[in-house]
Amino acid sequence: MSLPTGFLDELRGRLSLSQVVGRKVMWDARKSNQGKGDFWAPCPFHQEKSASFHVDDRKGFYYCFGCHAKGDALSFVRETENVGFIEAVEILAREAGMPMPERDPQAQQKADRRSQLIEVMEQAVQYYRLQLKTGQGAAARDYLDRRKLRDAARDRFEIGFAPEGWQGLWDHLRAKGVDEALVLEAGLAKASTKGKQPYDTFRNRIMFPIRDARGRAIAFGGRAMDPNDNAKYLNSPETLLFDKGRSLYNHGPAREGAGKGQTLIVAEGYMDVIALAEAGFTATVAPLGTAITEDQLRLLWRIAPEPVIALDGDTAGLRAAMRVIDVALPLLEAGNSLRFCLMPEGLDPDDLIQSQGAGAMQKLLDQAQPMVRLLWRRETEGRVYDSPERRAALDKTLRETLKKIADPSIRHHYGEEIKALRQELFGQGREGARKPFQPFQPWPRGQGGRPGAKWQPPAPPMPGTKASYLATAGEAGGERLREALILASLITHPELIEVFEHQLEELELTGPGHAVLRRAILRHAGVPDPANFRDKIASEAGDALETLFSLGHVITAPPILKTDDAELARMCVAEELAKLDARRGVRKEIEHAVEDLGGLADEGVTWRLGQAAEAVQRAGRSQLEDSGDLGEDRDALSKQLQSLIDGQVWKKKK
Ligand code: UTP
Ligand code: MN
Repeated sequence: MSLPTGFLDELRGRLSLSQVVGRKVMWDARKSNQGKGDFWAPCPFHQEKSASFHVDDRKGFYYCFGCHAKGDALSFVRETENVGFIEAVEILAREAGMPMPERDPQAQQKADRRSQLIEVMEQAVQYYRLQLKTGQGAAARDYLDRRKLRDAARDRFEIGFAPEGWQGLWDHLRAKGVDEALVLEAGLAKASTKGKQPYDTFRNRIMFPIRDARGRAIAFGGRAMDPNDNAKYLNSPETLLFDKGRSLYNHGPAREGAGKGQTLIVAEGYMDVIALAEAGFTATVAPLGTAITEDQLRLLWRIAPEPVIALDGDTAGLRAAMRVIDVALPLLEAGNSLRFCLMPEGLDPDDLIQSQGAGAMQKLLDQAQPMVRLLWRRETEGRVYDSPERRAALDKTLRETLKKIADPSIRHHYGEEIKALRQELFGQGREGARKPFQPFQPWPRGQGGRPGAKWQPPAPPMPGTKASYLATAGEAGGERLREALILASLITHPELIEVFEHQLEELELTGPGHAVLRRAILRHAGVPDPANFRDKIASEAGDALETLFSLGHVITAPPILKTDDAELARMCVAEELAKLDARRGVRKEIEHAVEDLGGLADEGVTWRLGQAAEAVQRAGRSQLEDSGDLGEDRDALSKQLQSLIDGQVWKKKK
């Protein structure tokens, strides 16, 4: 549904972010200045004892200086409640006393139809449940007894039974006055081709209601009682309510369980989900009679960053794993991955729990393998690499596979891991003679490093780039000076902080004490009093401040000398920010490109470098085009990129 313009602004305006967040954190009373809308707490998104999580109540934004989580009330509710956008809006609108907007007429009609269908589905759930408990359900009850499905589980999962016969449900619903068209549209009955009455879709089956994330019945899965039935499991057809590639069995309860810290498990079937949930693994889902789709993966990642796929340990299970991997590879990004838990041959989670208990399952989950291991297994298992040709062929397939990973940083990690596995397989012989990477750290770690960063961009020193700015410490030094100038300018002209606040929050700071200074600046930015501002910063970050204002480059800079020219300072800060941004963007691209030279290069390198070069050009075209040295910087960077492209340096390495 689309919201009318202005609705979200109004909502944000009415909410107090500190109230929304306040339910999940304990404010640090000493550090916070509540009267000024300035709140600090230990971060709810990562483990910590100190209070690095900042809420600016007046702006309605939060930012964590530790893990860099940031956003507004909506994103906070989405992240902490594990809900989607519209649900978050609904929650907050209720809280703010704002009625949700009316939908447009067509959408309203569709919504009305959906709620009618949901009502019919709900009636069917009750009908099937009753059938299981009464007359015709005796055989089904025996069957469930044999499968050790306790009453509590039957209730919790609302298991039912569709008796034999052609019109049981049909007659029941019609007698209740439900429209014929609705029953057909809900997929509960099918029109006869012989001009007779429509007939029930599900007959002589154990019925599993499928509910969406919000608990609305949208479909059924039915297991045949008759072992000779053509289809052991039958699902509802696709309807206005049910898109099977976008639905997950047990979605709602699993989301809740994952929110409480349970591992998100993806099993193959209904009975597995139920057995796992009954054994305490409440965050378990299953796709619905199909291989896992892209949409389902996205749903899973909205629940948890690293779902565990539990698959049969036989070849079919492995094949299924490989299909999942192929779907997942292009979608991987930082914080979205998968693990695989391989069941012993011939057992599914249901069987395993029945025969060996929950502990055995837990043990397998603990040993779940990262996706890259399975990839490796697929390419190598059962094969012999006793000739250079065979090894080359393996390298080629691996390269092809890695190319499918869109995210450069993830691709790099996979490449590294594969190299290690390759080393393991081929040993240290001639094959292993290639030297391992010597990661180089363009950013000093530790203070002001990149605390949230998941990986360190490696830049192996190579003939082609060794002399470049990228591999020299001087470059990093230059960036630190730019940072220093930005910080010093803002301390000298605190009235500018508001203008640059967001950029400042997001700025990657690498210089000594720079992060401490930033924190102090942001903390005291409330009602800046230029006269006292520097003293306030000094009281919190004295040493860092002293260092900052001892830099020759800083104390002689115009914005520091001309204390009454705020416009000049604003220009200067904007310029320095733009330069840092452009340089760092380019450098990251080059680093990604260079890391690919390690043997996993592709044509995409050319493209990405080209993009980076364009970005530099764009940055140059900004307001500051002709002032100062950005023009020269830009040209130098562009030339360097171009020579990398022209020289196709990555080809030489291969
Ligand atoms: P399985 O055949 O492994 O069944 O199918 P299961 O879950 O172990 O079921 P039980 O233990 O024999 O009752 C796994 C899943 O594949 C889908 C269903 O979603 C099932 O849960 N499936 C299977 C179908 O959609 N149709 C079929 O005919 C068989
Ligand atoms: Mn089974």
